[in-house]
Order: sequence, then structure tokens, then C-alpha cells
Amino acid sequence: MEVVQANGARIPIVGLGTWTLRGRDCVRLVEQAVADGYRHVDTAQMYGNEREVGEGVRASALRDQVFVTTKIQPDNLSPRDVERSVKESLKALNIGTIDLLLIHWPNPSVPLADTLGAMAKFKKSGDIRHIGVSNFTVALIEEATKVSPEPIATNQIECHPFLDQDKVRIACRRHGISITAYSPVARGRADGDALLAKIGKVHGKSAAQASLRWLIQQGIIVIPRTSKAERLKENIDIFDFKLSDAEMKQIAGLARGGRIVDWAWSPKWD
Ligand SMILES: NC(=O)c1ccc[n+]([C@@H]2O[C@H](COP(=O)([O-])OP(=O)(O)OC[C@H]3O[C@@H](n4cnc5c(N)ncnc54)[C@H](OP(=O)(O)O)[C@@H]3O)[C@@H](O)[C@H]2O)c1
Repeated sequence: MEVVQANGARIPIVGLGTWTLRGRDCVRLVEQAVADGYRHVDTAQMYGNEREVGEGVRASALRDQVFVTTKIQPDNLSPRDVERSVKESLKALNIGTIDLLLIHWPNPSVPLADTLGAMAKFKKSGDIRHIGVSNFTVALIEEATKVSPEPIATNQIECHPFLDQDKVRIACRRHGISITAYSPVARGRADGDALLAKIGKVHGKSAAQASLRWLIQQGIIVIPRTSKAERLKENIDIFDFKLSDAEMKQIAGLARGGRIVDWAWSPKWD
């Protein structure tokens, strides 16, 4: 599995997204994903499945090779809450060290320096390996890099062919921060897109695979989610073809403000 190197972290370029996966289905799917070659799993306190994700990773007997990311909820960002909630995540996951700990969403009512400082303490103690952020804009990335005692490994953001994220991607690159693409198949929309289907077909691949390939070919980490065991292989089977420069450009042309994830608490997007 290819890895993306960012500020000291080595992050497998394809991971399994687990939002909405629950109970035994979640455990089985994570275990199957590792058997199919996944070496990266993405969870969060908010998803309510850290316990099951941890169980699936442990059941695979490859714990040491699987990179596990979890995220702190936006209402847990004060130093005291970070301390409590990270301990809860460590206990629920029960896999030893957490590879990457992210701020799930920015929370303007808590100073960023306080949150990142509290996260950095867990890195020093060895409970987590790397820290990062999610849903951060250019302004927030600039602030985080100024105040963080430890380097930021990734910014996990919505990223797929229908959304132009160039501004924040350029800001992250400037600071050596990787991009992790959430909703990388645009919640299934990629699969219904005629251009992606046409380009995929040229390579004997699906439209969803064309979307994922377009991202990883730019060095972007992808974390597609599926509830279907048979799709796990499809979403990782993207290393045996290459999109041409012309195809990369054509796919970039699909970006027309197609943001999917937007909440009342979202920051002002770039
Ligand atoms: N940091 C954040 O704020 C944030 C926000 C959103 C998501 N995330 C993370 O990113 C992960 C992925 O994002 P997402 O869940 O929003 O969207 P996604 O991975 O783009 O899409 C998942 C949806 O697409 C379908 N799908 C998956 N693979 C497919 C394929 N090869 N062909 C056709 N359809 C396919 C799945 O259906 P089936 O289940 O039927 O296969 C599911 O309904 C999440 O699970 C979560 O871990 C993070």
C-alpha cells in the first residue's frame, strides 16, 4: 500500500471510512477490509463505533500494520475535555496507541492553542502518534500551524471531483500537511456520473474507481466508506491503472460547487 508522508507521519493512501457502520456489521467489515489489504481505518467519537472498529482491527491480527485515525468531538475541545475524551477513545478502541488524532470540527469558542496543546501532551506520552485537524479552512490552517506545539499531519476535508478545494489544498501543501479526502466518491454520486463512467471504462474500472484514482494520483489520501463487503475490494483496486493528464484535467472540470457536508457549525468555507 502506498503511503503519504506528511510532517513525520506515514499514512496509507487508502483507508476505510466507517461513519454509519455499527455493531457486528462494523466489526466484520473492518476485519474483512484488513484481510482485503486495507491498512488504514477512519473512525470518530461522533460515529459511536470506536469499540467495534477496535475489535475489527484486533480480530485481524494485523494491528501493528493498521493505521487508525479517530477524532475529538467539537464540544470536547477544552483541555480538560480533550484529556477525558482521548482517554475514552483509547479505552474504547483498545488497540494501544492511536496513530492519528484529529479535531473533528473547529469550535471558535475554544482557543485552538489550548486544544492542540492538550493533544500534543498525548503525543509526548506516546498514547497517540500524530495529531491533525478536519474541516479546517485556509485561515484555520494558518492559525493552527502557528500555535501548535506539534506538527499537523493531515487536514481531513470533503474532497471529490465535484468540489474545488484548491485553496485549502495549496495552504496545506505549503505547511507539509497532507489532505485526507472524505466523501471521496461523493456519497455514491461519482458512480452515476457519465464522464467518470466513460473514463473508468477506458481503464476497465468503475466510475467510483476513477474518482478515487483521480484523488490518489494527486497524493490525496482517500477514505471511502461502504457497508458492502464486495465493494471493499473495488475501492482499493485502484493501483493498477493511471489516468492520463488529459483525463485528470477533464475530471477536474466537474467541480461546480458540489459540497455535500455542511452543518450549522461549519466554518466559513474558502
Ligand atoms: N471529518 C468529517 O467531518 C467527515 C465527514 C464525512 C465523512 N467522513 C469520513 O469519511 C468517510 C467517507 O465519507 P462518506 O461516508 O461521507 O462518503 P463516501 O465514502 O464518498 O460515500 C459512501 C457512500 O457511497 C457508497 N459507495 C461506496 N463505494 C462505492 C462504490 N464503489 N460504488 C458506488 N457507491 C459506493 C456507499 O454505499 P454502500 O454502503 O451501499 O456501499 C455509501 O452510501 C466516512 O465514512 C467518514 O469516515 C469524515
